[in-house]
Amino acid sequence: MHYAQITGWGKCVPPTILTNKDLTTFMDTTDEWITSRTGIKERRICHCNFSDMALVAAKQALAAANLKPTDIDLILLGALTNDSYCPNTASLVQDALGATNAASIDINSACTGFLYGLHIGTNLIRAGAHKKVLVIGGEFISHYMDWSRREVAVLFGDACGAVVLEATEEAVGLIASKIGCDAEANHAIEITNLGSAFSKTSEDFLYNGWNFEGQEVFKRAVKAMSQAAGDVLAEAGITIDQVNLVVPHQANKRILDALAKRIGIPEDKVFVNVHKYGNTSAGTIPVALTESLEENRIKPGDYVLTASFGAGLTWGAGLIRWGERTTPLTQSDAKLPPCNKTALEILAPSIQRYTQYRARTEQA
Ligand code: ACO
Repeated sequence: MHYAQITGWGKCVPPTILTNKDLTTFMDTTDEWITSRTGIKERRICHCNFSDMALVAAKQALAAANLKPTDIDLILLGALTNDSYCPNTASLVQDALGATNAASIDINSACTGFLYGLHIGTNLIRAGAHKKVLVIGGEFISHYMDWSRREVAVLFGDACGAVVLEATEEAVGLIASKIGCDAEANHAIEITNLGSAFSKTSEDFLYNGWNFEGQEVFKRAVKAMSQAAGDVLAEAGITIDQVNLVVPHQANKRILDALAKRIGIPEDKVFVNVHKYGNTSAGTIPVALTESLEENRIKPGDYVLTASFGAGLTWGAGLIRWGERTTPLTQSDAKLPPCNKTALEILAPSIQRYTQYRARTEQA
C-alpha cells in the first residue's frame, strides 16, 4: 500500500501590509467593524505576479524536502486567480523552477483549491501514477478585487504556500479525505464581468464585480466543514480527542470559532493566523501548515485535521498523520523582489478605477 508523505513545505507572504486603518482612508469602514466581524487586522498585497509568489513557496518546499525540481513529476496549483488564462500558472511555475519532468495542472475550486490538490495528489500517489508531487495553493486576489465593495474588499489578502508529497510505505500523510460541492448555492460567491457568461461588448466587461452573500456562505461553510471533518475522522477511526491540531481554511475568526465548537475541539487546538493575512483563499491552508511547523505546533506522529470551503460552494476536509520529521532538510533563500511602495500606493490605480466605475454605474 502506498501513502503520500508531506516531506516539504513553504510559504510566500508578500512584504507589503494593508492595515484596517489603511482601508478606512478610501472606504466607509472601521477597524472595529472589521475586527469584530472577521478577526482580521491586516492583510498582504502582492507587488509582482502570482507565479512569483508560487515560485518562492515552491522553492522553499523543495528545499525542505531536499529535492531537485526535476524530481517532481506533477505540479497541482490550486487558485482561482492566475497570471494569465492561457498558459496556466502551473506551467509558468514549472518553467521558472526548471521542473521539466512535471505535468502541470491548475485547479480552480477557489478557497478549497489547495485541499482539492492535496486530495488529488495523494490519491494519484496512492494509485501508483505519480511519485513526487508539488501541491501549491495561493491567490493574488487583490488584483481581482472591487475596491468599491466594502463588504468583500476587507476580507481578502494575497499569499501562497506549497507542500511536497512523496510516495512512502508508511501510513502517514493524508490518511483520510473527502471533497465535495454545494453547487445549489454557487450564487453566494461570484466574480462577475469576466468569462464567457458575460458579454464582451458590455462596458462592464473586465470590471471584476463580486456577488457575495456573506451570511449564506457563513452558515453553509460551518455546516459543510464540520460534517466533512466528522466524516474523515470516522473513515480513519480517530476521535476528535486524538486530534492534536486543526489547521483550517482561514476565512473569518468567527467561522473558526463556530467550527471548533461544532466539532468539539478546544480553541487552543485550532491554528489561527487570519488576523495577519485575512482570507488568502487557496493560500490559507499551506501557509498555516507551514507556520504551524515553524512554531513547533506539529510534533512527529501528530494527527492534523484540516477543512476548507470556498466559491462553488466547494468544500473538503482531510486528516493528516504527520511523519517523523517536522523540520526542513535544507533552507531556500528564495524571496520576492523588494518593494518600495506602500500597499495604498500599489492599489491606487485599482481603487481609483473601481470607485470611478461605481460612481458611473450608480449615476446611470
Ligand atoms: N465596514 C462597515 N460596515 C460594513 C462593512 C464594512 N466593511 N461591510 C458591511 N457592512 C455593513 C452592512 O452594510 C450592514 O449594514 P446595515 O446593517 O446598515 O445594512 C452591516 O454591516 C451588517 O452586514 P452583514 O453582512 O449582516 O454582516 P455580517 O455580520 O454577516 O458579517 C461577513 C459579514 C464578515 C462577510 C460574514 O458574513 C462572513 O464572514 N461571511 C463568510 C464569508 C467568507 O469568508 N467567505 C469566504 C469564501 S470566499 C471564496 O471562496 C473566494
